Amino acid sequence: MPNRERWATRIGLILAMAGNAVGLGNFLRFPTQAAQNGGGVFMIPYMISLVLIAIPLMWVEWAIGRYGGVRGHGTTPAIFRLLWQHPVAKYIGVLGLFVPFVVSCYYVYIESWTLGYAVMSLFGMLPKVSAASASPEVYLAPFKEFLNSYTGMGEGDFYHPSLKAYIFLLITMGLNVYVLIKGISGGIERLAKVAMPLLFFFAIVLMIRVFTLETSHGSAVAGLNFLWEPKWSELANPKVWLAAAGQVFFTLSLGFGAIITYASYLKRNDDITLSALTASSLNELAEVVLGGSIAIPAAAAFFGVAAAQTIAASGAFNLAFVSLPAIFANIPFGQFFGFLWFILLFFAGLTSSVAITQPVIAFLEDEFKMERRLAVLSTMFVLFFVAHVAVFLAGALDEMDFWAGTFFVVVFALCEVLIFFWAFNPSQAWAEINRGGYIKLPRLFFYIMRYVTPAFLFLITVWWVVTILPGYLMESRWTSWVTREILVAIMAVFCFLVYFQDKRRRRK
Ligand code: TRP
Repeated sequence: MPNRERWATRIGLILAMAGNAVGLGNFLRFPTQAAQNGGGVFMIPYMISLVLIAIPLMWVEWAIGRYGGVRGHGTTPAIFRLLWQHPVAKYIGVLGLFVPFVVSCYYVYIESWTLGYAVMSLFGMLPKVSAASASPEVYLAPFKEFLNSYTGMGEGDFYHPSLKAYIFLLITMGLNVYVLIKGISGGIERLAKVAMPLLFFFAIVLMIRVFTLETSHGSAVAGLNFLWEPKWSELANPKVWLAAAGQVFFTLSLGFGAIITYASYLKRNDDITLSALTASSLNELAEVVLGGSIAIPAAAAFFGVAAAQTIAASGAFNLAFVSLPAIFANIPFGQFFGFLWFILLFFAGLTSSVAITQPVIAFLEDEFKMERRLAVLSTMFVLFFVAHVAVFLAGALDEMDFWAGTFFVVVFALCEVLIFFWAFNPSQAWAEINRGGYIKLPRLFFYIMRYVTPAFLFLITVWWVVTILPGYLMESRWTSWVTREILVAIMAVFCFLVYFQDKRRRRK
């Protein structure tokens, strides 16, 4: 397959993979999850999940991707068919298109808020308040209101976003198209080489600024204490273990098909073992060190530890778009630091959104021999259309996130390991991971990948189906059902495309 694209440099590949993984989850989801799930003790199940589930899956996804790529395929319908000669394999692979596509439809919208807030912060268009004498609730109220009028999210069945929000969505879509049309090495890789170093630099600047914050309510150090103090009794709580496994999964972008597609642009003997580990380490650095040192410590320094706890419990969005702008409104050069914060989130978002959009583009290019420009434009056209559901229909965003971003990722990851280490051929799978590797993996990981990882994923899936699904389905309103019908339709379209392509392939 001489005409498939390739990564130009190893550093570019690693930065692109790190950019894929480093997202809003590192700076918002991680600290709120840790704060709510045992503080320092959260890191124990986190590290165990990292070693037993995440890193093994990371190697599996890279290997599956490279295997498909050298055979001309970058997405799982075709790759699963190569690995497992069973008619159902290609339909399992449809999840590798469905999950990233559905997530991209709301991810770009949230990403566009970060761009909007960056611009508004820089030009002083966010609310202005005087010194924080009142209680946190009173102090935060104007920022909450501002976010509500920006996104238009309220009680009704439909949202009424501001014109600004819509315009920033258009701009964000445009930027994504711009990067994607330039291709793997010319677009995604070049973006990562600029955006990732800047992202780390901005995060370090913000971390230093936060560490030097001191108010009458507290200091950042108190916030670090609150975040990292181990609450040992929580270790016995299964919820903490699930939250940790879920976070590791989310932050490393596993089970989305996005890493597989990126890895399909590797060459036959390119290193996998060390590169995958390096990209994952960069993500963990951004998550555990930087992600843990900005938002929560800042909230603790400014509002006190007790209020920071409430803020963490009120969710990642409140932390990012309400509490942090409120803090920046009250420090010297706050407009500038606010801009840094949001542009940091925007870079994290952009390097991830191109990664979730690429699988469908690759599918159209590889399987339908579509030219890149057309593949990008038609994917983005449909994405833009479906994004309107998330923008206007109440609860649709959460619904999409629940199915595609939380449930199917685990199911899909389980399918990946089972197909690679059971249906395909375990020793060949092991050899595939190690070929060209700069480090040799301990044999122990063979057993982890073959037995432990699938067992864990299976347990998580069952736990979900039994404890979360029933309650979730019970309390849904009509907009949730409409969203679900749309999701089923999207799934059906992908299945049909796969069916159609497979038939055409056989006739040849
Ligand atoms: N890892 C990203 C984060 O931490 C979120 C994410 C999950 C993602 N799956 C993805 C991004 C797939 C790109 C592709 O925020």
